[in-house]
Amino acid sequence: MHIGLIRERKDNENRVALVPSGVRQLRAMGHTVTVECNAGLGSGIPDEEYLAAGAYIEAEMRNVYADCEMILRVKEPTEEEYGLIRQDQILFAYLHLAASPQLTEALQKSGGVAFAYEMVQEADRSLPLLTPMSEVAGRMSIHIAAKFMEKTSAGKGIMLGGVPGVAPAEVTIIGGGVVGTNAAKMALGQGARVTIIDSNPARLRQLDDQFDGRVRTLMSNPDNISECVTQSDAVIGAVLLPGKKAPKLVSREMVAGMKKGAVIVDVAIDQGGCVETADRMTSHSDPVYLVNDVIHYAVPNIPGIVPRTSTYALSNSTLSYISELANKGWRRILQEPNHPIAKAANVIQGELAVSF
Ligand SMILES: NC(=O)c1ccc[n+]([C@@H]2O[C@H](COP(=O)([O-])OP(=O)(O)OC[C@H]3O[C@@H](n4cnc5c(N)ncnc54)[C@H](O)[C@@H]3O)[C@@H](O)[C@H]2O)c1
Repeated sequence: MHIGLIRERKDNENRVALVPSGVRQLRAMGHTVTVECNAGLGSGIPDEEYLAAGAYIEAEMRNVYADCEMILRVKEPTEEEYGLIRQDQILFAYLHLAASPQLTEALQKSGGVAFAYEMVQEADRSLPLLTPMSEVAGRMSIHIAAKFMEKTSAGKGIMLGGVPGVAPAEVTIIGGGVVGTNAAKMALGQGARVTIIDSNPARLRQLDDQFDGRVRTLMSNPDNISECVTQSDAVIGAVLLPGKKAPKLVSREMVAGMKKGAVIVDVAIDQGGCVETADRMTSHSDPVYLVNDVIHYAVPNIPGIVPRTSTYALSNSTLSYISELANKGWRRILQEPNHPIAKAANVIQGELAVSF
């Protein structure tokens, strides 16, 4: 199969969907790879390294779309790409269509076949291509909260861990999955007081065991969420209903009751966000806005600012699925309905394969 690698175009998106060792492995299986010029530069990978691995380099994005049977990206295509996606062409990337009707329509019109990284699902229900970026985003969410708690960032001017004689910050994490667990690790490491709220009792039990009682765990309900967020210095939104829009768990009224200068990092913004007032995505260039003097951070591509870590973490996980798709082709994959990649089919030749 002829595989195309596109340079990312989202604000401060420095990741790339394939590294040179991946090119070498795909070539060894008999595939060819065309890389858009400078696709790897943001991750510190010059074109020469792709050339040395046996890739072709192409200056024009439109030619990559025109020549290749499968297109690899990290994030969803931008508007300028909508008209370039072709009938039967495979697109493999994070798509988050539940939060983007415009992209959904464009993919349907294209006649292409779109598989979403975030919905590849193994038999044990794990999401192997979401996990590595959720690990990064979860850990980064605490760095981000700490940064915006500083006075120079319009925050309250407090340190996550406090110091002897001064109380640490209160951090509430809503959703105790991969993002939530990684956020909790970082927040605890910095000395904050941490509460994790989840709707799954079994998950709450695991978290209680995993953290050996060092985090408070609470069942997700409006009373518990309201009580926690109004007392918190930082709130991390980390819920997921796979393939669906995130539920709005923190209401406008709850935000109005929060401390001035508190920080909300709604990591779930890529699925529409779990905080009612996080009603728009922000970008790395302009990451925050205020509602009732509460700082809202709603960047959908957090891992994009730590690309050297994120690119390699992502490609460690994606390569085996990319290879499978290239070796079998999309038709054979869809004939195996329990195939992990078949579960990620979002749009097939104009037909929507998921409901939101
Ligand atoms: N902004 C970014 O850059 C970025 C990066 C990576 C992941 N994400 C997003 O972060 C979100 C979380 O991802 P994840 O990998 O941690 O998912 P996950 O499936 O591992 O965890 C989600 C958790 O939410 C819990 N949950 C579901 N409904 C709930 C409710 N009503 N109340 C409380 N908890 C509830 C689930 O029980 C689960 O434990 C997703 O939307 C994902 O796409 C965003």
